[in-house]
Order: sequence, then C-alpha cells, then structure tokens
Amino acid sequence: MGVEQLDDCVILTHPSNEFTSVKILHYGATVLSWKVNGQEKLWLSEKAHLDGSKAVRGGIPLVFPVFGKKTEGATATLPQHGFARNNIWEFLGQISANPPTIQYGLGPENLSEETRAQWPHDFTLLFTVVLEEDKLTTSLEVQNNELEGSWDFNALFHTYFRVNDITKVKVHGLTGVSAYDQLTQKSYSETKNDGIIFTEEYDRIYNGTGPNDISITDDCKTLITIESNNINDTVVWNPWIKKSDGMADFSPKDGWKKMVCVERGSVVDWVNLKAGSTWEGSQIFKACL
Ligand code: BG6
Repeated sequence: MGVEQLDDCVILTHPSNEFTSVKILHYGATVLSWKVNGQEKLWLSEKAHLDGSKAVRGGIPLVFPVFGKKTEGATATLPQHGFARNNIWEFLGQISANPPTIQYGLGPENLSEETRAQWPHDFTLLFTVVLEEDKLTTSLEVQNNELEGSWDFNALFHTYFRVNDITKVKVHGLTGVSAYDQLTQKSYSETKNDGIIFTEEYDRIYNGTGPNDISITDDCKTLITIESNNINDTVVWNPWIKKSDGMADFSPKDGWKKMVCVERGSVVDWVNLKAGSTWEGSQIFKACL
C-alpha cells in the first residue's frame, strides 16, 4: 500500500482500495498503468520498450519541448516529440498523503550533453500525479530558470486509452473546434455533433479546445471524462492497420482496435515562457465504467 519504489518505477496504490493504482516508469516519467478497482484504463503495447532504449509505446508519454518533428527553428535538431519522454526523470517522492500524490523532476542536469546542446536552456519540469478513487490527475509545470529572455515550448500528455472496440468508440466535446488533419494536411471546423468516430487512420489536431470537457464513449457507454486546466489543444490519434503494422514496438498487431490516443496539450501555438516564469497545465481523468 502507499508508494512502492522499485528500481525503474514507482507504484502508487490508493489507501482505501488496493485495486486502484498508478505505475510510473522513471524513464520519461511515463505513466504505464492506471487501474481503477482492478480495471486497466490505459493501453500499453506488449512490445513497448521499458528499458530506456526508446520512448514507451503506450501509457502517458510526456511531449516536451516540441510536438511532432520540426524542420526549422529552435527545436529542429530534437527528435520527434522532444526529449521529455526519452530521458530518466528524478523521482522526488510523495508530496501528499491524501489524495496520494507523487512528483518527478527533470532539468538540464538529467540530459545528455548532446541533448543539452540541442536545446541549450535552463529549465525545470515538474510532473505531478494525483491518484483518487476514480480519478487520475497529471500536471506538468515548466519553469524558465534563466535570468533574461524567453523561450518557446509545446507540452502534451500523449495518453493512450484502452478501449474495447475502436469501431464503437466516439470522442465527444470537439464540435465546432478548428481541426487540422495531419494526414490530408487540411484544416476545417469539426462539424460532427455526435462525437468523432473511427473508420480508418486518424491523426488530427484540435486547436482551441480550451477547458472543454472531452469524453470517450465505447458502445454508447462513457469510459472516461477529461477535464483540463490551462491546456489549449487536443490531438486525436489511432494508427489503424497499416501504420501500426509499420511500428516494431506496436503489439499485438491488431492492438489498434483496443486503443485511442486523446492527447491534451498546447501544441499549435508555442507557449512563450519568460525568464523566471512558470507555466502549468493539467488534465483530470475520471473513470466512469
Ligand atoms: C501523435 C501524432 O501524437 O503521435 C502522430 O499526432 C504520431 O502523427 C503519433 O504518429 C505517434 O508518434 P510516435 O513518435 O510516438 O511514434
């Protein structure tokens, strides 16, 4: 019960329900599992690398300081989705007993020389995880520790939710929101009133979702509701057949039927953070089934 520290991860168990827990890998401070009363809510590939050799395929990888891969600008030499998800974070311990809360930190001292040269800024990231009986809150705080100037960043929680049948899944709360389809490279305003559905590969960025509540239903039953604070965008992704087949760490091969990524973050416009300032964004998942 409480916080169990293993060599490479931490398991936080709810004090009033031993079947409710969250597991976080030190590598990437990646949430690998969130169980509510014994039911797993996140999808994790059976071939996800958990040894620090590659960003984890599943759970909640953290995207910072760039979403996707930029070909120009200050983040152009960084890998896709930045460096937060593929470096070992420092476990800072349990910061509150009730609700049980733990925190991780990452700064330039935790990065390789090569990564520091690619993004030569003085920063601190604090990742906080709060486990309640039916809720999981994850927050990312970004601090600019420099004395002058400012820098830009993207930040995103790249959450893989576990679903029963993607063909019966709908994502609600995005009606009327500006969308960009990364596959066709077209922008439009989302018109679907009754939720987004999945019939093929899906990779879209919704801009300006603000504090809109998002929910995921599976066969008309609500699985999860997502609230957020200070988060502007939502990425919705399912790789479908061909793309998942091309990912060596994606398993089982028909795993795309059992997952949907609904990723909350600030990725369309850069967040500009001045020296000495702090930005914080958080998301709150409520499990409904
Ligand atoms: C999503 C992007 O956030 O992440 C997709 O919208 C991308 O374009 C997906 O394919 C997975 O990225 P990665 O780097 O983890 O394979």
